Amino acid sequence: MEKLMEKIISLAKRRGFVFPSSEIYGGVEALWDYGPLGSLLKSNIKKEWLKTFVQKKDNVVLIDGTVVMHPKVWEASGHLKSFTDALIECKSCHARFRADHMDAGNFVGQGKAKAKNQCSLCGGKEFTEAKQFNLMFKTYLGPIEDEAHVAYLRPETAQSMFANFKHVQESMRLKIPFGIAQIGHCFRNEITTGNFTFRSREFDIAEIEYFVKPGEDEKIFDEWLNDWEKFFVDLGLKKENLRRYEHPKGDLAHYSKRTVDIEYKFPFGWSELAGVANRTDYDLSQHAKFSGKELGYFDEESGKTYIPYVIEPTLGVERLLLALLADAYGEVEGGRTKTTESVKEKEIVLKIDRKLAPVKVAILPLLKNKPDLVKKAKEIHGNLKTNFICQYDEAGSIGRRYRRQDEIGTPYCVTIDFDTLEKDEVTVRDRDTMAQEKVKVSELLNFLKLKLEV
Ligand code: GAP
Repeated sequence: MEKLMEKIISLAKRRGFVFPSSEIYGGVEALWDYGPLGSLLKSNIKKEWLKTFVQKKDNVVLIDGTVVMHPKVWEASGHLKSFTDALIECKSCHARFRADHMDAGNFVGQGKAKAKNQCSLCGGKEFTEAKQFNLMFKTYLGPIEDEAHVAYLRPETAQSMFANFKHVQESMRLKIPFGIAQIGHCFRNEITTGNFTFRSREFDIAEIEYFVKPGEDEKIFDEWLNDWEKFFVDLGLKKENLRRYEHPKGDLAHYSKRTVDIEYKFPFGWSELAGVANRTDYDLSQHAKFSGKELGYFDEESGKTYIPYVIEPTLGVERLLLALLADAYGEVEGGRTKTTESVKEKEIVLKIDRKLAPVKVAILPLLKNKPDLVKKAKEIHGNLKTNFICQYDEAGSIGRRYRRQDEIGTPYCVTIDFDTLEKDEVTVRDRDTMAQEKVKVSELLNFLKLKLEV
């Protein structure tokens, strides 16, 4: 399984999905850039999420809040006090490690330890007492760098949905239950990194704060948990690679009455992909207290005002992207495409759901030295590319070009051959079945639209 991770990292870099950030300077731990295909994939994940949870729901609306908020927000939310990891410091070289990883002898914060309770950098065996370290990135608003101007980069998108609760409810005339959705960049100064993009310092969270009447929270929690999990299955993740983890009562975050993680069987083991939390009335009550503003909801039916409870389904977009790559990755020893090449290599096929595939269609003229074929292929490419992301490729044998598309998960390859010139027909090849179908050029766009469900 560890090998699978290496293969995914290698494919991701070689084919333009994910690159280490600023690699020409040696890279930065836990920061990743999404390349041409990775950013298309990420954008498709976000589109599906919006379609499922905003477009198709009657009572969920989207907002786009700022990354830097008023510093009081983080005091009210409890992040200043509780969003911490306990760290210990090596007395010889001052490297810091998570205290909870010491006993396990598993230092992954700044490299791997050689032995139990030994500094992985200098071998030192003496450490300071544990001190709390806040995971929020700190900055300053304006030119003066003093305590009065400290601000933080948000570690979750949730807080701007709480701070905007009244604006959204009143401007959209929403009645409880309703949800506010947001997707955007979050920042955490993670100490334990590793496992590729799994624990990054900058990443996107997609989450919903769903406001409900107290007393209805437990039932609605279960409904959201089912919906959230179904989303991953609908995107193609195999059911057997998903499971639930109920947080024990004593381990819950400071705001939570109940949290269930949806775990994915990553190549490095079962780990959190997403979660659903019952945040009760904690956040709105705290913001009401700290801001002095009335954040209750007036229930017309009962004539009473109450602070709603909140059910929060949340997910990390990059973790989902990593799970999708791992789930879709496959290899066929000896090759699967018919080719004239004498040596058949191992072939990689990325069977990613067609909704998510970064490139939907590849346009391949059979031979690049036949001007009529190339002209026709470019004409077809020109017509299709206004509808889908298409890739034109004329380099190398047709088998090699199929393989290049298979490993980035392109669902359909359209080959322009002599039949195209004579009978106005192209050959459409399906990535998964490798079935080849003749389609009239005039019907090609509709054929692909139906297949791709767009
Ligand atoms: N508002 C709730 C919240 O932020 P969380 O479990 O701390 O909850 C939400 O984070 C999701 O963000 C997680 O389920 C996980 O998928 C993702 N996530 C958390 N830390 C991450 C990191 N360092 N890198 C990538 N994704 C991360």
